[in-house]
Amino acid sequence: MSIRDFIQALPKAELHLHIEGTLEPELMFALAQRNKVNLPYSSIDALRAAYDFGNLQDFLDLYYQGMSVLQTEQDYYDLTWSYLEKSRAQNLLHTEIFFDPQGHTERGIEFSTVFNGIHQALTDGQRKLNISSELIMCFLRHLDEADAFSTLQQALPYKDHIIGVGLDSSELGHPPGKFKNVFARAREAGFLPVAHAGEEGPADYVASALDDLHIVRIDHGNRCLDDAELTARIAAAQIPLTVCPLSNLKLCVVKNMQQHPLRQMLDKGLLVTLNSDDPAYFGGYINENYLAVQVALNLSREELAGLARNSFKASFLPDQLKQAMIAKVDAVEIHQT
Ligand code: ADE
Ligand code: ZN
Repeated sequence: MSIRDFIQALPKAELHLHIEGTLEPELMFALAQRNKVNLPYSSIDALRAAYDFGNLQDFLDLYYQGMSVLQTEQDYYDLTWSYLEKSRAQNLLHTEIFFDPQGHTERGIEFSTVFNGIHQALTDGQRKLNISSELIMCFLRHLDEADAFSTLQQALPYKDHIIGVGLDSSELGHPPGKFKNVFARAREAGFLPVAHAGEEGPADYVASALDDLHIVRIDHGNRCLDDAELTARIAAAQIPLTVCPLSNLKLCVVKNMQQHPLRQMLDKGLLVTLNSDDPAYFGGYINENYLAVQVALNLSREELAGLARNSFKASFLPDQLKQAMIAKVDAVEIHQT
């Protein structure tokens, strides 16, 4: 079995995926036409050519512009369904999906429109594709805490179908502590807290996400490695990191894939998972992320299987299901015959 086939055969979960970041240029153009939105690109190729980012903000500018074509429940359904079909074909069994309500409500789209379209597709995904899922609502950190409070309020009627709250968008200048109160309220309401931290921001932001927001999973977390004591603390507590290799490369968080800190993270005993973040913008879904680090860092099949096991271990699945999924990973033949 080739390494590619081995990665394909591994049952996997994805824990860091922005549904708006799965909007492929083809669907963006189709929805622009359907909703009579003008895109400032003459063709799909011209749009793809613009995906050349120097940092996180370069990407976010195009990401928010891109999501302007999403307007109706059907649009959110189509977006989500398309991600689920692609992911199922890559043997993804479970996914925990971020969405950015403020990226839509700011443009006058109702929270219910966004939620209903995504949720209906996830329900169909469970039934027709046998892919289980959870939803995590993110607050945009470049906006203020009052805006996040209002978003939390709008989410309350859908609480039974939203497992957690997250924090994303421009990191530098927006430390986690800015959202201390709204995270406290969200935790009281029963949402599980996660946050992007240490993608571009310093190790201090990772510590603040743990201490001020009490997060149970760290999205990215790369820069925690700058602080040995913090790294040891995260490893000892086995707080998972949702690492996104192709995203890190495209957003210049790493210079090249050979310099990706994944192996260092594993050596330090961190509970690391691999994820695609915004696959339509970064050039690959889950399997392409596994393959990119395997090639660059020469990961063994045992190490790849370990990462797949971690993806279930770090998920919000109930323990019994986690064990059942991990048993499926164990059943994949590692040794070449
Ligand atoms: N929103 C979508 N993708 C993101 C990322 N990688 N970092 C911060 N905000 C995001
Ligand atoms: Zn992200």
